[in-house]
Amino acid sequence: MATMQDNQTWSGRFNEPVAELVKRYTASVDFDKRLALFDIQGSLAHAQMLAHCSIISTQDLQDIQRGLAQIENEIINGDFVWSLDLEDVHLNIEKRLTTMVGDAGKRLHTGRSRNDQVATDIRLYLRSSIDDIVLLLKAMQTSLLNLAQHHTHTIMPGFTHLQVAQPVSFAHHLMAYFEMCQRDVERFTDARKRVNRLPLGAAALAGTSYPIKRELVAELLGFEAVCQNSLDAVSDRDFAIEFTACSALVMTHLSRLSEELILWMSPRFGFIDIADRFCTGSSIMPQKKNPDVPELVRGKTGRVNGHLVALLTLMKGQPLAYNKDNQEDKEPLFDTVDTLTQTLRIYADMMTGITVKPEAMRRAALQGYATATDLADYLVKKGLPFRDAHEAVALAVRYAEQKNCDLAELKLDELQQFSSLISDDIYAVLTLEGSLAARNHTGGTAPQQVEAAIARARKLLAG
Ligand code: ARG
Repeated sequence: MATMQDNQTWSGRFNEPVAELVKRYTASVDFDKRLALFDIQGSLAHAQMLAHCSIISTQDLQDIQRGLAQIENEIINGDFVWSLDLEDVHLNIEKRLTTMVGDAGKRLHTGRSRNDQVATDIRLYLRSSIDDIVLLLKAMQTSLLNLAQHHTHTIMPGFTHLQVAQPVSFAHHLMAYFEMCQRDVERFTDARKRVNRLPLGAAALAGTSYPIKRELVAELLGFEAVCQNSLDAVSDRDFAIEFTACSALVMTHLSRLSEELILWMSPRFGFIDIADRFCTGSSIMPQKKNPDVPELVRGKTGRVNGHLVALLTLMKGQPLAYNKDNQEDKEPLFDTVDTLTQTLRIYADMMTGITVKPEAMRRAALQGYATATDLADYLVKKGLPFRDAHEAVALAVRYAEQKNCDLAELKLDELQQFSSLISDDIYAVLTLEGSLAARNHTGGTAPQQVEAAIARARKLLAG
């Protein structure tokens, strides 16, 4: 019979050691060591409960606490030696603890399994990530507000189908992204409630025969509730999928904004410039200044969307309860958190490096008959049914197009060919400012409304 290496936790049951390739294939320590501090936090709470319930002695608890404190230091200082033979973060820490404090270390795993342990670690990790992300989202919102504040009177063309539609203020456009970010904050805040539940106590899958007190562990770890079914507790990764879906939506929002920044910075638009520190040059074309950051954000959105699909696929064929498949949840989650936090951090900063070019925006708004709807609305207010007004203005636009001028440049008698209802008060209506001011209701682009929206937003962030 082959002898087992003594560091194999389940050596008693096996006749031969795990093949080298299999060991590498199944080990997760290279990446799940990132959960180490959460693993220790969970172990401390578990041990405290075991002592409270007299399942281990107070002396054992003290030994465990002392050992884990030292391990934590070793990890923080980079002195901890991780071993692939010990498969994952959980066994590495437990083995080190046992080496340091003896039998007390061997008692830590009483009434616990790595199945409920790892689920707890991920939940602690995601809870803390959500708290970071919400702060970063708020910083992004502040950046949007700070820019918007100066541009409630800066007029640009609003687009539909990327065709000039109606004039809007640049501030109004930015505030659309504030709203998206606000929904992102709300989504993460809501998902946090489902992340913040305790799996420990489920043990391998069925619960444990020791007289444990799960509520105490939940309280010690700041969980809002305990998972109510032990099978579900060890196998559920909905919370991780939900987290990734929330993240994919943030990235999608930032990807849309990126697409706009890229377009706006193109000389064809020339609406903005992005500070040099966020751009790069070309190795061959000396004139180039490329918006690499927004382009990369757009590109990295694909990665996070991919992680969402990976996690959904990971889960779809799994019978209850825990399966090793779940070990594959970690890398997509870690990469999602890294990508999202780095993106938000750089974005909030990049918004402060945007130079707005109001003249170029205005020039673009004056092309493409952006106030045609205002002319139609004017006719409606004078009694013409909307469909007839629409038709009259379409003819006027065609006429102006042939003359290669704007509607506001047509003389009164020219305009009156299309409707006798038109009089010289029309010119105020056809200006960009008139068009904006007319949309004076909640959610409209009138400067007064956008200023109110910014004020509401500031209050929301402060509260
Ligand atoms: N490394 C494992 C994971 O990430 C820990 C749980 C292992 N449980 C087991 N029964 N093999 O999911």
